[in-house]
Amino acid sequence: MKGSILVVDDEEVILKSCKRILEPEGYDVSTALSALKAIELLEGAKPYDLVITDIKMPGMDGMEFMRRLRAKNPEICIVLITGHPSQESIKEALALGIIDYLPKPFSPSLLTETTAKAMEVRKKSVKTDSQDFTGEMAEKLAEIIRKHKNKPGSLIPVLQEAQELVGYLPPVVQRHIARGLNLPVSEVHGVVSFYSFFSMKPKGKHNVRVCLGTACYVKRAEEILARLKEQLQIDIGEVTVDRKFSLESVRCLGACGLAPVVVVDKDTHGSVNPVKTMDILAQYE
Ligand code: FES
Repeated sequence: MKGSILVVDDEEVILKSCKRILEPEGYDVSTALSALKAIELLEGAKPYDLVITDIKMPGMDGMEFMRRLRAKNPEICIVLITGHPSQESIKEALALGIIDYLPKPFSPSLLTETTAKAMEVRKKSVKTDSQDFTGEMAEKLAEIIRKHKNKPGSLIPVLQEAQELVGYLPPVVQRHIARGLNLPVSEVHGVVSFYSFFSMKPKGKHNVRVCLGTACYVKRAEEILARLKEQLQIDIGEVTVDRKFSLESVRCLGACGLAPVVVVDKDTHGSVNPVKTMDILAQYE
């Protein structure tokens, strides 16, 4: 089995087609017709690697569901299904750590492709957690926690020092901190996701984001991404060996007039020529 997936949507036809498309690919697919039903399933004994959820649902909507899900389960991967997303909802969903979103109606190939990408991220995060957080770091983190433990407002300074120590705050680090400070993991996770200076993913010194939204896509964004992958020798979601660059793909950065767009850290590079991606990277060497 390639991984377990929970699909949440109030339209039965979507649940059925996700099951029909993903099960032959080797995934174990469960479905829920509402966010409340999904929460019930997620609180059960069965572990899930990925949740694919609709945003518009009666009762609890997808956004509220994701907030609750994240608070309880910082590790789980989420893919959002959405009709016409606003920049606001995409921003909030990204802040909640979604891997990607599926615009409705989506094709079977987009569903399998997005699912495979999310599962890859899931696998890597499990591997990276154990590789990046060594025993020596665990000892140092315990010292940091001891130093701050009985002071008021100790969580933020502990998180800051933990991030300096590990480079980012993966779930395993958040769990250590929660245990050490006698706090629920959901509280630690809530603070980590609220402040943008905390990161849950390993990042290079410079984070490169390539827009694959429609306006950029038609102007050869895929070629730009392929070149950057080749030049950096990493795939999406990865960090170069020297930790200098990390690479991400995004759907629309809100600068379609400048398509194709690549953003490095806070710098927007517009009208990028695919053969000149090396010039962009050189500015950060
Ligand atoms: S599609 Fe690339 S910035 Fe909008």
